[in-house]
Amino acid sequence: MNKEEKIKQLNEEISIKLEKVDDLKMLNELKIEYLSKNGPVSQLSSFMKDLDNEEKKEYGKLLNELKNNINEKFETIKKKLEDEELNKKLESEKIDITLPSKKTVRGSEHPLNRTIEEIEDLFVSMGYEVVEGPELETDEFCFERLNLPKGHPARDMQDSFYITDEYVLRAQTSAVQARTMLKYGGTKPIKMICIGKTYRREDDATHSHQFNQVEGLVIDKKENKISLADLKGTLEVFMKKMLGENTQLRFRPSYFPFTEPSYEVDCTCFKCGGKGCNLCKQTGWIEVLGSGIVHPNVLRMNGYDPEVWGGFAFGTGIDRLAMFKYGIPDMRYLYTNDVRFLKQFDRKDID
Ligand code: DAH
Repeated sequence: MNKEEKIKQLNEEISIKLEKVDDLKMLNELKIEYLSKNGPVSQLSSFMKDLDNEEKKEYGKLLNELKNNINEKFETIKKKLEDEELNKKLESEKIDITLPSKKTVRGSEHPLNRTIEEIEDLFVSMGYEVVEGPELETDEFCFERLNLPKGHPARDMQDSFYITDEYVLRAQTSAVQARTMLKYGGTKPIKMICIGKTYRREDDATHSHQFNQVEGLVIDKKENKISLADLKGTLEVFMKKMLGENTQLRFRPSYFPFTEPSYEVDCTCFKCGGKGCNLCKQTGWIEVLGSGIVHPNVLRMNGYDPEVWGGFAFGTGIDRLAMFKYGIPDMRYLYTNDVRFLKQFDRKDID
């Protein structure tokens, strides 16, 4: 067989083998077999050195045609195999976007949190700072620094959970009054609210052993004349915002060890508007708040000179406010986490 025939035969041989190739690995192996340095194509080139110029031209042309032909075929098949592989991959990884997705259940904001946020927004808009304090409190901060020394009869107003003789689950957020005064160091005015959990040994339809309070404290230099009028105005804005614009307030003299004078504040019953009903026990009023002018002893004990500084404080239970606001008959509903109850507060207009 002469070398021209060998070229033709090699071309045919490769074409037949290429037809059987069905993956890239096989194609690669074939490429190495035929096109490597010692492969048959290179061997055919080795005849060149024995040819004269005219023959070299002819033979060289044939050899080039063979090489181009083989390379072209390899490339075509490589492209075809790669396309096939890609399509297979795309097919296997295809996501069926027509499949309906699993429904996610959208929750709703808890009525307590909604009430808390509303209170915070209101007081922040009036220039108050929102502060926090620990739930596990010391006897010192929960009572002593609020003018309630050990053995004081007014401690009976709060049936507290004592952990040790010194540690108590705070029975009132008033503890944060003392903490804030100490933090401010007796030199700066204070305008704060503190919202948080409080604990007492009570459990019935209108009391829970865990509940939430908001505490407010405003202290300024005496020359700035913070008075009962400011306290009244502030509480009026607060209660109207919570229970409706028509709400009226009534201040009743009362006793709290940390304020003097002290007041309990009643609101006109939001159910009957003050006419008298079963909710307000026919009185037309509902008790909502404790408040007063900060006692000089409290100022002194917490680093503020009562000759120079003065102000007011107030405190109320947020759970009760939420109950009034949303007409919830039993405080325990707020804590049992029953979805059927909570779903009622799913207001679509709030995102
Ligand atoms: N801490 C009181 C309570 O839990 C409420 C209270 C009354 C807070 C008068 C005050 C206040 O800041 O001045 O019953």
